[in-house]
Amino acid sequence: MTECCRVLVLISGNGSNLQAIIDGCDDNVSAEVVGVISNKPDAYGLTRAHQGEIDTSCVIVRKDETRQQYDQRLQQAIEKYQPDLIVLAGFMRILSDEFVSQYMGRMINIHPSLLPKYAGLNTHQRAIDAKDAEHGASVHFVIPELDAGPVILQAKVPVYEEDNVETLSARVHEQEHAIYPLVVKWFSLQRLKMVDNIAYLDNESIGIHGFAPD
Ligand code: GAR
Repeated sequence: MTECCRVLVLISGNGSNLQAIIDGCDDNVSAEVVGVISNKPDAYGLTRAHQGEIDTSCVIVRKDETRQQYDQRLQQAIEKYQPDLIVLAGFMRILSDEFVSQYMGRMINIHPSLLPKYAGLNTHQRAIDAKDAEHGASVHFVIPELDAGPVILQAKVPVYEEDNVETLSARVHEQEHAIYPLVVKWFSLQRLKMVDNIAYLDNESIGIHGFAPD
């Protein structure tokens, strides 16, 4: 890794996690957001990047394009930035195995559930429907299997009887903004790695629910 960790963030939408990471990097000399890539031209996260004077690219899916063809173009866009770390922050596309395999150990994702619960979509509604007492978010290394890579850090929130998707997702989002910049910081300080599908922080393996201090 270069002296300052080059962080590239991939988004599809609002980019509130991108904002938290930009703000976190402002206070962290070991990491810099060098670019933002969106698959949606109207993603508000692109405006956030421009406000932060961060370079942006759009890789929009073309009609009749295969997943592999899209991922090849995405890879070309990524390589321009020479990133040390690729951060998926609400990037709402499934990535091909070949693509993911190239970035194993240096690509992370945030998912709005307490993985391994509720991989995939509609996580807040699923937690409400199941009458779960708690819900949350997980930051994990990305592996080819969807939402299945080793968890690095989780944040839990309570679920109240009167909750709906809006109230619950707002509570989860607030926690996401705390944990994602912290994980980026750990990686940039070279405290975090993945070996053989196990995540390590300071050379200690991290349990399946993420880092939990004693
Ligand atoms: C976040 O809640 C993130 O966990 C979720 O998208 C949202 C993006 O919000 N990601 C996924 O669902 C990925 N499977 P943001 O654009 O405001 O950061």
